[in-house]
Amino acid sequence: MSIISKDISKAVQLLSSDQVVAIPTETVYGLAGNIYSNKAINLIFKTKKRPFFNPLIVHIQSAEALSDIVSHIPEKAKQLANAFWPGSMTLVLKKQSNIPDIITAGKDTVAVRVPNHPTTLELLKQLPFPIAAPSANPFGSISPTKPEHVERYFKENISQVLDGGPCKKGIESTIIGFENDEPIIYRLGALAVEDIEGVVGKVSIKNKKEVSPDAPGMLERHYAPSTRTFLTDNVSEEIKKHEGKRIGILSFKSKLDDLNIASQIILSPKGDLTEAAARLYGAMHDLDRESLDVIIAERFPDSGLGKSINDRLQRATYSS
Ligand code: TXA
Ligand code: MG
Repeated sequence: MSIISKDISKAVQLLSSDQVVAIPTETVYGLAGNIYSNKAINLIFKTKKRPFFNPLIVHIQSAEALSDIVSHIPEKAKQLANAFWPGSMTLVLKKQSNIPDIITAGKDTVAVRVPNHPTTLELLKQLPFPIAAPSANPFGSISPTKPEHVERYFKENISQVLDGGPCKKGIESTIIGFENDEPIIYRLGALAVEDIEGVVGKVSIKNKKEVSPDAPGMLERHYAPSTRTFLTDNVSEEIKKHEGKRIGILSFKSKLDDLNIASQIILSPKGDLTEAAARLYGAMHDLDRESLDVIIAERFPDSGLGKSINDRLQRATYSS
């Protein structure tokens, strides 16, 4: 029997009894538990096989609840929350003392966001506690953007995937930390850097080498298909290096005519980065199930969501 269901009251009941439930968000599906339940939070780590040094994101119902979770809100954090919540932005701020250490991996900061999905906002409204939710995938593998992806990963381990349809944004939230009250991007994501800068002015992007393993979302290899994946500016040239192999192509807008290609997914024939981001992980899941020897991904233009897509493609590769 399928574990996918739209029953919000069932999710409320499971979460209220220390269980974990997969929940829809506009970015990716999350594996959720009550932030104050040690049992539920341990279950999240166990189910995902996630190392305990990797902290979780707390999901709250509205920006008003932020002061229950964090002890200091810089002016620019207020401006960002007003501009983008509910939405695909996570803020890392100094935590309140009642936030359990297991959520923050013992750090004095906590990651928080208000997700923009009607089902999960309704769920949060009905729950008397916030929920912690990392992406609902085994550690290191591709994040789920459809309920079926979660079911495939965790059918044996969880009782419910709360069905909210396919995720509209399709890649994880953009994570923003603060140093001396100034924002700094820890993880590129579904909210473009340009949009953030439109509200708070120029922001810097933390070098991934500096962040790791503080924000393991920044780990070099992450979000990865099990098929060997290459990222290139020139797909035709890369194909020549894999003669005789079953090759899958993941490209932005143009179709390639090459007899060596076994399978090809074009993320947005009309060249729309938002559409490409929304389809990215679904395409990686699909190609990964086609018994290919290699996946060759085309590098995206380095602006707007193209920057975030390139970040994820880079982490999906073996060679850099
Ligand atoms: O879109 C999203 O953010 C999704 C949905 C479910 O909300 N969640 C998600 O969670 O991507 P997860 O656990 O896969 O990624 C959370 C990232 C990790 O890289 C973690 O290291 C970082 O957030 N993080 C959490 N707390 C942090 C903190 N206090 N300081 C720095 N990084 C933190
Ligand atoms: Mg993740």
